[in-house]
Amino acid sequence: MTFYSPVITNAAEVAGSDKLHLFRYVEDANQTKIETYESHGGYGTWRKVLTTKKPDDVIAEVKASGLRGRGGAGFPTGMKWGFIPKDSPKPRYLVCNADESEPGTCKDRVIMERDPHAMIEGMAIAAYAIGCHLMFVYIRGEFGHCIETVDKALQEAYAKGHLGKNVYGSGYDLDMIVHSGGGAYICGEETALLNSLEGEKGMSRIRPPFPAIEGLYACPTIVNNVETLTTVRHIMERGAQWYRTMGTEKSPGSKIFSVSGHVKRPGNYEVELGFSLKKLIYDPQYGNGILGDKKLKGVIPGGASTPFLTPDQINVGLDFESMTSVGSMLGSGAVIVFHEDTCIVWAILKLIHFFRHESCGKCTPCREGTGWLEQIIRRIEHGGGKPGDIEKIEDICGNILGRTICPLGDAAVMPIQSAVKHWRDEWQYHIDHGKCLVPTRFEFV
Ligand SMILES: Cc1cc2nc3c(=O)[nH]c(=O)nc-3n(C[C@H](O)[C@H](O)[C@H](O)COP(=O)(O)O)c2cc1C
Ligand code: SF4
Repeated sequence: MTFYSPVITNAAEVAGSDKLHLFRYVEDANQTKIETYESHGGYGTWRKVLTTKKPDDVIAEVKASGLRGRGGAGFPTGMKWGFIPKDSPKPRYLVCNADESEPGTCKDRVIMERDPHAMIEGMAIAAYAIGCHLMFVYIRGEFGHCIETVDKALQEAYAKGHLGKNVYGSGYDLDMIVHSGGGAYICGEETALLNSLEGEKGMSRIRPPFPAIEGLYACPTIVNNVETLTTVRHIMERGAQWYRTMGTEKSPGSKIFSVSGHVKRPGNYEVELGFSLKKLIYDPQYGNGILGDKKLKGVIPGGASTPFLTPDQINVGLDFESMTSVGSMLGSGAVIVFHEDTCIVWAILKLIHFFRHESCGKCTPCREGTGWLEQIIRRIEHGGGKPGDIEKIEDICGNILGRTICPLGDAAVMPIQSAVKHWRDEWQYHIDHGKCLVPTRFEFV
């Protein structure tokens, strides 16, 4: 039996659009079956690419589309593929990052649960573009049902000759392995993921060398997110120019946003990049406003690693540049909404507890600093705040930011810095009075 998480999507809107594409079939319970997928033209793009295009043509098309990685950093996908050394005698690997552990993010899960062949087809096209014959998908270990669904889809793809030896009689061999993740947030960071895939502890590697030069088993490797690779399938089907009719000039295309927290209609929504954050939260088609019709307090727009925005900042487009212009980041597209009854110290304690727990411990500022931050913030939350605590928090954050091996250190401190900046009075009240200015009262639905 196919298992679906009961997550709301805007599949009906996507199906009626001639542009949005990722969610077109995600409400069709048969879409996981290869016959249904093929009846919608599935694997036709892979066949066309493999039999009529050169790898460099694929890279050029993806570069022209302006596609930027959907794993968080927004790095241009075609450019990343171009870093694979052309003259290296070593095998090349493609790794699909399906670790999806950023709090608030649950978009890749929907693709894997409901349209796994689209991801596999996108991976096959990307593998061909970089000259890879063995590709991996590293799926978050807790997503047992996704592992099962993708594995089943993979067996179907082999049985139908879309993967394996001499695919479509082209002479090109392509294999794929499904790997169950190590159960840690850091295993989503691409170099920790590669260590984990090699059977080592999931700890980040010092760069350079970057994975495109020395990645899996010290061979050239491309790591891309599930949504990125699935998008590649659509770009190669309909072309870079079509793709650029969506979104903004520097952030083209569409993206899935996971809306959670204090909204009436949490769910995953595919919209064009540049879509209004305010509309995503308030429009009845999407978030449908704040729970209990309360006032909005703040929003984390791109997953737990990104700085908070305040209500006066939400009239902004959801694209990489606009998010930077208001002091935050698009990140993984996880929009977490907090209403007026949220104590900011309480909320930050939850976040720093997560990051401290998930730090791999390799570098001192992150390993020690996240622990110190958690101790101080926990003390404040439980009524033991002392004068100077806010300054101490700011000092520790400043000593972590930009001084760590991987971005987890930055991710841990950026929401804290923004929360201190936006709600300093609330932190001070907590320290002075030993209690919340805004006692947290949640009624989750
Ligand atoms: C702590 C941490 C966790 C991450 N987790 C994920 C993840 O779960 N999925 C993902 O695609 N990227 C994750 N990333 C980003 C990856 O390192 C990498 O940039 C991404 O997979 C590249 O794919 P893209 O170019 O398609 O965005 C994480 C990064 C960090 C620092
Ligand atoms: S920043 Fe944190 S998670 Fe990243 S390498 Fe350093 S200790 Fe590990």
